[in-house]
Amino acid sequence: TKTYKIAAIPGDGIGKEVLPEGLRVLEAVSRRFGIQLEFTHIDWASCDYYQKTGQMMPDDWRAQLQPMDAIYFGAVGWPASVPDHVSLWGSLLKFRREFDQYINLRPVRLFEGVPCPLAGRQPGDIDYLVVRENTEGEYTNLGGVMYGGTDREIVIQESVYSRFGADRVLKYAFELAQQRDRRHLTVATKSNGIAIAMPWWDSRADAVGQAYPSVTVDKQHIDILTARFVLQPGRFDVVVASNLFGDILSDLGPATTGTIGLAPSANLNPERSFPSLFEPVHGSAPDIYGRNIANPVAMIWSGAMMLQFLGHEDAHDAILQAIERTLIEGPRTPDLGGTASTTDMGRAIAERI
Ligand code: NAD
Ligand code: IPM
Ligand code: MN
Repeated sequence: TKTYKIAAIPGDGIGKEVLPEGLRVLEAVSRRFGIQLEFTHIDWASCDYYQKTGQMMPDDWRAQLQPMDAIYFGAVGWPASVPDHVSLWGSLLKFRREFDQYINLRPVRLFEGVPCPLAGRQPGDIDYLVVRENTEGEYTNLGGVMYGGTDREIVIQESVYSRFGADRVLKYAFELAQQRDRRHLTVATKSNGIAIAMPWWDSRADAVGQAYPSVTVDKQHIDILTARFVLQPGRFDVVVASNLFGDILSDLGPATTGTIGLAPSANLNPERSFPSLFEPVHGSAPDIYGRNIANPVAMIWSGAMMLQFLGHEDAHDAILQAIERTLIEGPRTPDLGGTASTTDMGRAIAERI
């Protein structure tokens, strides 16, 4: 049987607390299903490493990671010591770009046992997938400051969308929608205000959608789309969005399911030319780091998505079932209304595998 090489990168803050729980569950599930996982533990891509070396990663980071089957990643960022744009463009955003992980798949689901902050919603009422474009759009370093320090100072930052980049994420989203029961795709837009890029994005959605006549399409401006995430979450099945819109939607969605501590993500290079990266949606949470109270579910669910991408659907399902049971029966971390530690919750999920 194949041995999968996995790079385990904790990063900063609660990344260092939740990653061990993710590994604990992966070890349990790989034992049960006879999957060979070989972990390489990496201490770079962290602000600690930056403080020691002046850079986020060693020069040969690419050579070290390219042979991996996947990257299992905690969170990066410690703004008290390294500016966020330096730490993130020096690590995570570099992985996404240089490993061409152009799909950021972020499921949103309301679980039984987790109180919903929206009135009257039951499990089953909130269950959709955000497909976020992950390599272009609003996230660029194109631009600059002019007349700096004067009262005429201006700053310009460009957005970049390519036909190649838009079409491939739209195609992925249509394919995904086509495989689901409801076959519905929401396209996030802002063609009324962002009057060049977003009408163009809509036209690419129309063009790509020609090949998927069974998928119903609803284009929604991002402002009302956020309102409907709160007011009418049942409208959504698959939601495709540009990089920044997808970023915002993928914190808002999980917040409506009780806590962002549940939300996983898969940064995918579907062609498998490069390793894909699996990480929680949340960040390093400096405000709670060091107390062992972070919810490990986002990290653990991300591990399930990793095994699914590697072809082990049964292992994915076993992890999800263990998460579901633990959310109902406990123990639960404080963001879920409980008093358990990160470790307690991670152990309970691992034991239920
Ligand atoms: P954050 O996601 O780290 O935290 C936001 C809030 O959610 C905080 O109150 C935090 O305590 C809470 N929270 C987050 N994860 C939790 C969990 N698992 N359990 C319980 N509560 C949880 O976002 P932020 O505060 O904007 O960013 C902090 C740092 O993380 C910054 O450096 C930021 O750039 C970075 N960041 C990194 C990633 C990533 O690596 N993918 C993602 C988002 C933010
Ligand atoms: C995320 C994060 C990152 C993003 C930050 C840390 C650069 O918020 O993964 O959602 O904006 O993509
Ligand atoms: Mn985000």
